[in-house]
Amino acid sequence: MSFSLMRWASLVMLGMQASQVFAISQISAVGAKFFNSSGDQFYIKGIAYQLSDNDPLVNEAQCKLDAALMKELGANTIRVYHVDPDGDHDGCMSAFSDAGIYLFVDLETFNSAIDQSAPHWNSTMLNAYTKVLDTFHGYDNLAGVFVGNEVLTMTNGSWAAPYVKAAARDVKAYRDSKGYRQIPVGYAAADIADLRPMLQDYLACSTNSSEDLDFFSLNAYEWCGDNTFTGSGYSELQKNATGYSIPIFFSETGCNTSPPRTFEDQSAIFGSDMADTWSGAIIYEWIEEANNYGLISYGPSVAATATGTNIVGGYTRGGTPTPVSPDFSNLKSVWATLNPTGVALSAYSASASKITPLACPAETSGIWNVNPTAALPTVGQTADASGTGSSGTTTGGSTGTASGASSTATSSKGAAPVGIVTPGSAGATSAVVIYGVLVGFTGLMAWWL
Ligand SMILES: *[C@@H]1O[C@H](CO)[C@@H](O)[C@H](O)[C@H]1NC(C)=O
Ligand SMILES: *[C@@H]1O[C@H](CO)[C@@H](O)[C@H](O)[C@H]1NC(C)=O
Ligand SMILES: *[C@@H]1O[C@H](CO)[C@@H](O)[C@H](O)[C@H]1NC(C)=O
Ligand SMILES: *[C@@H]1O[C@H](CO)[C@@H](O)[C@H](O)[C@H]1NC(C)=O
Ligand SMILES: *[C@@H]1O[C@H](CO)[C@@H](O)[C@H](O)[C@H]1NC(C)=O
Repeated sequence: MSFSLMRWASLVMLGMQASQVFAISQISAVGAKFFNSSGDQFYIKGIAYQLSDNDPLVNEAQCKLDAALMKELGANTIRVYHVDPDGDHDGCMSAFSDAGIYLFVDLETFNSAIDQSAPHWNSTMLNAYTKVLDTFHGYDNLAGVFVGNEVLTMTNGSWAAPYVKAAARDVKAYRDSKGYRQIPVGYAAADIADLRPMLQDYLACSTNSSEDLDFFSLNAYEWCGDNTFTGSGYSELQKNATGYSIPIFFSETGCNTSPPRTFEDQSAIFGSDMADTWSGAIIYEWIEEANNYGLISYGPSVAATATGTNIVGGYTRGGTPTPVSPDFSNLKSVWATLNPTGVALSAYSASASKITPLACPAETSGIWNVNPTAALPTVGQTADASGTGSSGTTTGGSTGTASGASSTATSSKGAAPVGIVTPGSAGATSAVVIYGVLVGFTGLMAWWL
């Protein structure tokens, strides 16, 4: 080989190496599973990440520090609840991409989330959602977006479900009209035993896929401490998800009521019990704060009243992350043993095209007040209380007070407590679940105030 040819060849190889190092494969939803661009099934090993309330994806140096430790943990995904669409996210998105880490991001902002106490969907909200999509669609490591987080938390909240579905319909139509890739659009549900099976089916039951979500996910804290697939209630989650037509995963999990956390549930999710149906899990959460779910901390807690750079609510939020022991190493060891390969797209795509949606759930007065054959709300529509059965009667008086709680429910702090049900209570009575929700809301309000 002549010198110049050799040089040319090594330049080409360098170029190939560079693209192998820096490119991350895009994720798409096919049938009920996620795949990467080489047709391998993608399982989420995720971490909820909300270092700063407004946007944790604008500080590149911080993202690099966190991404490096997440890679060591074995994570391949983060979930972020709030971003500022006007921020510059290039540095953080590259930092995570370089570490092989994908992003699922919530599109709703603090004042554009769908509100179960007075459901409506309008152009202001749609514009806020699509602005976030515009900002993030170009990043190859954007794995998916949420049109809502725990919008329905009360047993009388079912009338908000069509508004979640309308939001997904319009975000998908916008995505397609702009020629963006098929970025999966989904929803993160609170684990409310009375609503979950119906909501899950409803969001994917249309025969017109433009009106279905691209994925469904669940914030579930059913498995605490030493437990089993059956004892935890996960076997019921599995039953409900069998035959589901879109990908399903845990958008939050990691009960902390029996410390230390051993993350045993991951073995069920990524093992033979569930891995054929579920696409992985996002652990709540990266940072240590008052709710005590942290996998890392940035130093010892400080006085609750302390102020200063990066200090929020008695915790430092920035700097070098230090593993919280033994939770961090427990999760790392568990994840290291769990590497399902799933199914190859080439073997799956024929059956995927034959999956039919489950039936839309029937209307059940007082629980599921959604007409299965009604058209979805249009932009500008507001829910009509007269059509919702018993839950509608109190709407007028409650709207003002409830909306504060509802908007905080989409914050990272609120996300965990709201969905909590007691261990083994997949069939819990509504009293228990409502109690959990109220406790969650009280905590939320306390944080918000
Ligand atoms: C897709 O995922 C598989 C399994 O994790 C991996 O080996 C492969 O490199 C990925 N494809 C691309 C193009 O990154
Ligand atoms: C849409 O609803 C939000 C409240 O959720 C409100 O702030 C906004 O003004 C409404 N926009 C329109 C066009 O009605
Ligand atoms: C499917 O739904 C979309 C969005 O609502 C609508 O624009 C389209 O006309 C529907 N297609 C059919 C065949 O009904
Ligand atoms: C879904 O789970 C609930 C318990 O949470 C159970 O009562 C119901 O029968 C399940 N439905 C299906 C279709 O598996
Ligand atoms: C739902 O129930 C809660 C708690 O009982 C109540 O405060 C709220 O007003 C109800 N919401 C609607 C829309 O009826």
